[in-house]
Amino acid sequence: MRSPIVWAPARIAAVGAHAPEGVLTNADFERRLDTSDEWIVKRTGIRRRHVAADGQYTSHLAIAAVDDLLAHNPGVHLEHVDYLIVGSSTPDYAYPSVSAILQAHYRLPKTVGALDISTACAGFAYGINLAAGLIGTRQVKRVLVVVADTLTRSVDYTDRSTAVLFGDGGGAALIEYSAEPAIFGMDAGADGNGGKFLYRTGLRTEINGVEDASRLLRQEGSAVYRWVMENIPAAIERILERAGMELGDIDWFVPHSANLRMIEALDKRLPFPVERTLFSIEEYGNTSAVSIPLALVPAVRDGRVKPGQRLLLMGFGGGLVMAGNVVLWT
Ligand code: ACO
Repeated sequence: MRSPIVWAPARIAAVGAHAPEGVLTNADFERRLDTSDEWIVKRTGIRRRHVAADGQYTSHLAIAAVDDLLAHNPGVHLEHVDYLIVGSSTPDYAYPSVSAILQAHYRLPKTVGALDISTACAGFAYGINLAAGLIGTRQVKRVLVVVADTLTRSVDYTDRSTAVLFGDGGGAALIEYSAEPAIFGMDAGADGNGGKFLYRTGLRTEINGVEDASRLLRQEGSAVYRWVMENIPAAIERILERAGMELGDIDWFVPHSANLRMIEALDKRLPFPVERTLFSIEEYGNTSAVSIPLALVPAVRDGRVKPGQRLLLMGFGGGLVMAGNVVLWT
C-alpha cells in the first residue's frame, strides 16, 4: 500500500440501523399494478420493502436507529456527542431540521452542532466525510451521523416504474477521534445537469421546462443507471488513489443499494467479487441514504465484517450526487 493522500484521525466507533415493521411484498404490488414478482426480482433484485406506519416520520426512524446503536453499544453515551449530522431527502419539515429534532429528543446541550444535509442516497458517505473533517480539524471529538428516509411517502403509487423500488429505514454511526487514522480517501461530487433524471419538486414546481406540481419522486431509471455506470467506477478509482490503496486492499465493497443488477454490473466493471459486496436491496428495497447502514450493520453483528478489514463505502443518487470513502474497521 502507498501512503494515503487523504485521511482523517477518526474511526467509526459504533453503528445502528432500523427498519419499520410494515412490509410490502412483490405480491402486494402484483395486486395493485401491472407488474410481476418475476419482473421486479429479475430487474432489481428486490423482494420486500419496509414501510413507515401512519404517523411515523423520518425523525422517528432516525431515533429508532440511534436507539439501536445505543442498545448494541452499552459503552456509548450521547452526552459525549458534540455534533449531529443527519442525511435525509425526506425530512419531517423544511425546518426544524431532523438534527434539531434529535437534539431536543435526546435533551442534548444547545452547544451541540446540528446539521441536515440534502445528499439523497449519498447521505451516509457524505455525512462520514463531513464528520471526519470536523474531527480532523479538531473542532469536535465525536459526531453522530444519522441517516433516515421515508421515501414511500414521496412515491407515486400509480407509477409501476418507481413504486416498486423504494422502502423506509434509519441508520446511525458514531464517528470519533482516533490517533490511528481509520477513514481514508474521502471523495465527493455532484452533477446537477443530471437532476432532471431523478428529482422531487418542492417550492419550485418546474424543472427543465417540465411542470410537475405533484411533489412526488420522479425517476428516469435507465438514464440514472447509465450515469452510475459512467461515473461511479471513476469515483472509486479516485477514492482508492486518495486512500493510497488498490482494489485488492479492500475486504468489503458497500455500494448504495439501488438495484442488484446494477451492483452486479459495477462489480463486473471494477472488477470486485459479488461475494465480498454487502447490499440490503433484497429485504429493504432502495432505502436511499439508509441502504448502506442496512447492509453494513447485519454484517458487523454477524461477524462477517471484522476489525482490521477495509470497507469501501460508495453512495450515489438523486440530484445527482455521489460520495465515498474507505473505512478501516476497528
Ligand atoms: N413492472 C413491469 N414492467 C415495468 C415495471 C414494473 N414494475 N417498471 C417498468 N416496467 C417496464 C417499462 O414500462 C418498460 O416497458 P416498455 O419497454 O414497454 O416501455 C420496460 O419495463 C423497461 O423499462 P426500463 O425503465 O428501461 O427498465 P430498466 O431495466 O432500466 O429497469 C430500473 C428500471 C429498475 C428503475 C433501473 O433502470 C434502475 O434501477 N435504475 C437505477 C436507479 C438508481 O440507481 N437510482 C439512484 C438512486 S435512487 C435515489 O437517489 C432516490
